[in-house]
Amino acid sequence: MIRVNEHYLKLQASYLFSDIARRVAAFQKAHPGKEIIKLGIGDVTRPLPPACVEAFHRAVDEMAAAESFRGYGPEQGYPFLREKIAREDFQRRGAPIEADEIFVSDGSKCDVANIQEIFAADVTVAIPDPVYPVYLDTNVMAGRTGAFADGRYAGVVYLDSTRENGYVPGLPGRDVDLIYLCFPNNPTGAVISRERLQAWVDYARERRALILYDAAYETFIRDERLPHSIFEIEGAREVAIEFRSFSKTAGFTGTRCAYTVVPKGCTAWTAAGEPHSVHALWLRRHTTKFNGVSYPVQRAAEAVYSPEGRAQCRERIDGYLRNAALIRREMTDLGYECIGGDHSPYLWVDTRMDSWAFFDLLLEKANVVCTPGVGFGRCGAGYVRISAFNDFEKVALAMERIRAALRGRA
Ligand code: MLT
Repeated sequence: MIRVNEHYLKLQASYLFSDIARRVAAFQKAHPGKEIIKLGIGDVTRPLPPACVEAFHRAVDEMAAAESFRGYGPEQGYPFLREKIAREDFQRRGAPIEADEIFVSDGSKCDVANIQEIFAADVTVAIPDPVYPVYLDTNVMAGRTGAFADGRYAGVVYLDSTRENGYVPGLPGRDVDLIYLCFPNNPTGAVISRERLQAWVDYARERRALILYDAAYETFIRDERLPHSIFEIEGAREVAIEFRSFSKTAGFTGTRCAYTVVPKGCTAWTAAGEPHSVHALWLRRHTTKFNGVSYPVQRAAEAVYSPEGRAQCRERIDGYLRNAALIRREMTDLGYECIGGDHSPYLWVDTRMDSWAFFDLLLEKANVVCTPGVGFGRCGAGYVRISAFNDFEKVALAMERIRAALRGRA
């Protein structure tokens, strides 16, 4: 008799964004004439930067010619891309990362989901609330939690991000082993200062813990005092792994390219106290389970670092930030408290009502999709996340409709 992994049965019925997509599809079916504006899932709308498209085309042509055709590439990514990443994203900012510490992949979602499998099944996991659901769900699947009750899984150490702590969680009051952090934050849009990140790194070093740092949105940072990478923080090479993505940076959500930085200084221990290199474990896992990102996609990603590529990416991100500023101004004007949007594509809005009821209200009255905050965790109850990923005209229209729907309510 084939048996199921019963940890899966502890999960909530479906993945948050699939649930929303289903509700939106049902609404669209019932109201075929309505034009829905999506400010829900953080998916880019601007096309790929021309510099990336040109590099992509050139690489496809190479694949079409016998003398330049390539089969399997290195699982960790081609040196041309890994070297650019190490130099441009890290060394230039004073972060001591080498090319062979970069693992190119087809997305941060997969990496952030898969990384936990190299750690013991009984490590204590600290997870922010609210949170990108993948961190939590993959630990549930791996059996690191108990049952779900009252909006939480037993056995997880939740790091509350609330108005009181500026949506940046403080250090846990107990020992934890694996710590998930994400800045600029998804879903709140909050950012972390160097000092507060240093406190997390110091904590991890003292307790021999490890930080999984999701920096998928670092390209939105506009205040140069803020860290773009955890490796700008002293001591982080010993206790942190970082996830980065070309999805939001360069519009690669449909093209798929990301990378994970696993420094050679990171150590994890056996139950008997024997040290092991986390880099070696991840290399073993990556080379066994992954065959590399396609050559044309890696060439397209490399073009992000050319002068034209940089300018084109910057122009796109500036556009999304302009949308975010508009959303924030309008929601504040309507009387809703919100944060985020200044170094992030996400706005976190206190609706002072049930998250899903507010989601339904916007969908039905304004035909605008947002994301219910409670879907990101118990601390998100009463909030919604509004994404700035759309064209300016659509965002302006959405805000006009939201204004008409909500006027006088807040
Ligand atoms: C989000 O909306 O939170 C993101 O688009 C999800 C993701 O990047 O997978």
